[in-house]
Amino acid sequence: MAEARAVEPMTVPKFLARKGGDPLVCLTAYSTPVARLLDPYVDLLLVGDSVGVVEHGLPTTIGVTVAEMISHGKAVMRGAKHALVAVDLPFGSYEGSTAQAFSTASHIMRETGCAAVKLEGGVAMIEIVAFLSARGVPVIGHVGLRPQSVHLMGGYKAVGRHRRDWDAIEADAKAVAEAGAFAIVLEGVAEPLAARITEAVPVPTIGIGASARCDGQILVTNDLLGLTENPPRFAKRFVNLAPLIAEAAATFAAQVKTRRFPAPENTYSAKD
Ligand code: KIV
Repeated sequence: MAEARAVEPMTVPKFLARKGGDPLVCLTAYSTPVARLLDPYVDLLLVGDSVGVVEHGLPTTIGVTVAEMISHGKAVMRGAKHALVAVDLPFGSYEGSTAQAFSTASHIMRETGCAAVKLEGGVAMIEIVAFLSARGVPVIGHVGLRPQSVHLMGGYKAVGRHRRDWDAIEADAKAVAEAGAFAIVLEGVAEPLAARITEAVPVPTIGIGASARCDGQILVTNDLLGLTENPPRFAKRFVNLAPLIAEAAATFAAQVKTRRFPAPENTYSAKD
């Protein structure tokens, strides 16, 4: 088992300072107990809008609301002592204007106590990233495969498989960094392009389906734990909890039906 880190809180400047250094370890989290378990091992807990798909059964992240992000953000904050906690701005809550983005981001930060927000988009989002960053909202960018643009992109497809597309994707990452983002998620980006972007931008890149040469890695925790029915090809299952949960439920059912549960140690006797 990897060594747990000392409980010294990760901050935005410390995160940024890891550019080109020790790889940043990042996972998504949506609840207090899971955040508590992950916290000693990670630098960043992301309350991703993937929560809509992996925890609420939505087909895409598009239906996720600000209220849901706040509820999950509060839960994760209660379980995090060391990791930086960032919360995703959900679809439709920030793209309209800088004022809308600031209103949503500040609301989420005030309600949850999180240290940063993440938003999707490249060149098209630079005004918003700059506006937030200049007003005390640390921003993580997200370029490449952008799940909130699933309909525009025609599905969840890796990007940058053709060299002719590289300049535009690299321009997205550079623009977001220049606008003030302190880190950038590179999702579903062809390996050599992700490595090239990592060299080109002054802030940490966090890969998911990208490259081991990124400054850090993130996975959706439900994929890591084997709790997702159809995980993306790039996800790696580090443990398979699904059959263990099913087995526990089956054993419970069998014991209830045969009245072996509750046993005396699971009940209270009368005192007089
Ligand atoms: O929503 C999410 O969980 C994310 C990660 C996949 C980076 O954006």
